[in-house]
Amino acid sequence: MINRPGARPVRYPVGRDVPPFYVLEVLQAAQAMQDAGRPVLHLEVGQPCTGAPRTVLDAANRAVASERLGYTTANGIAPLRLRIAAHYAQRYGVTVDPERIVLTAGASGGFVLAFLAAFPAGARVAVTEPGYPCYRNTLLAFERVAVGVPVDATSRFQPTPQILDAAGPLDGLVMASPSNPTGTALTEAELQALVNWSAERGVRLVADEIYHGISYSSAAPTALSFSDDVIVLNSFSKYFSMTGWRLGWMVLPTDLVEVVDRLAGNLYICPATLSQHAALAAFDAAEELDDHVRRYGRNREIVLEALPAMGITELSPADGAFYVYARTSHLARDSAALCEAWLEELAVAVTPGIDFDPTRGAEFVRFSFSGATADIAEAMGRIGAWVAAHPTGLLS
Ligand SMILES: Cc1ncc(COP(=O)(O)O)c(C=O)c1O
Repeated sequence: MINRPGARPVRYPVGRDVPPFYVLEVLQAAQAMQDAGRPVLHLEVGQPCTGAPRTVLDAANRAVASERLGYTTANGIAPLRLRIAAHYAQRYGVTVDPERIVLTAGASGGFVLAFLAAFPAGARVAVTEPGYPCYRNTLLAFERVAVGVPVDATSRFQPTPQILDAAGPLDGLVMASPSNPTGTALTEAELQALVNWSAERGVRLVADEIYHGISYSSAAPTALSFSDDVIVLNSFSKYFSMTGWRLGWMVLPTDLVEVVDRLAGNLYICPATLSQHAALAAFDAAEELDDHVRRYGRNREIVLEALPAMGITELSPADGAFYVYARTSHLARDSAALCEAWLEELAVAVTPGIDFDPTRGAEFVRFSFSGATADIAEAMGRIGAWVAAHPTGLLS
């Protein structure tokens, strides 16, 4: 609340306090360089460099020609909800009632619905640090309290019941496996332990499964294997290579289905109708999409070999997704300055850890290896040469 002389007291809306999603600022700076005629290697943004699969493009063209493309129901078209339910049966052996599935405007739209439906204002919801920044920022925007839970290499950057016990009273927990920015995936036993811990304490578990399908050893388990009482978020953005189509989905506990339907209808009526019709065909594109995953795997090997060779040795495990979170404190006190130097001097864009961890993020950088293999190799070469020329980085 501030007072201006002669004016009514002004209360600023809480949205004014929401921090930026820094990766988008790095992307903007990189884009400006590119527009000025200097090509940039993009290892900052976490999105496939490929477009939607062929089957999706064909389905979109058919829908444009034959569908009216009016509003749909708030929870999305029934055939797509049925197809997603079949996906759970096929991939995980889990039965999901399509009535519990809600199509959303990306997983991002799902967070808005989940946080509004599941938590009252002032609720304490645990988010890992490092973790995906929009959980924390979206909770803040809706006046829920994001309780930062520090995780590090000792728990493979994932929460454990012991770590959560130390966080004080909680109403909710948001976790991701594989995670952004570390790529760490939970085993079945570890995930089950978190589901049980949450159930025993009446803590609502929100499981972000957006990187499912992008794993380099064993496939990531779904929280739905252990309980129907969790909120699961997923999206067509990552494995399905459809970021700009802005389509995701949630699987809800039955007690939240009706409230989420009301919220969705009021907030945005329905997710984009064209995207919904097109996404029906995404499940028939496994060959093309698995090719992308094989490319991410090759990129991952390049990064995991190049970084230690240049003395960047503290790396997150990167079991899945397309990220490595790396300690760079021997090169810079503030990784944002390091990222700026690499962008300006090398035309290589990477993301400073401050996006993911407000406390210790300045000591880390996130490398996204979702791009073309030649670009990733070239970026590693440029950074390697820079580090060889500046062994103490920006510290001296
Ligand atoms: C962990 C995680 N969850 C959710 C999202 C949001 O994805 P979308 O809204 O495109 O589905 C992202 C995007 O990078 C992410 O990394």
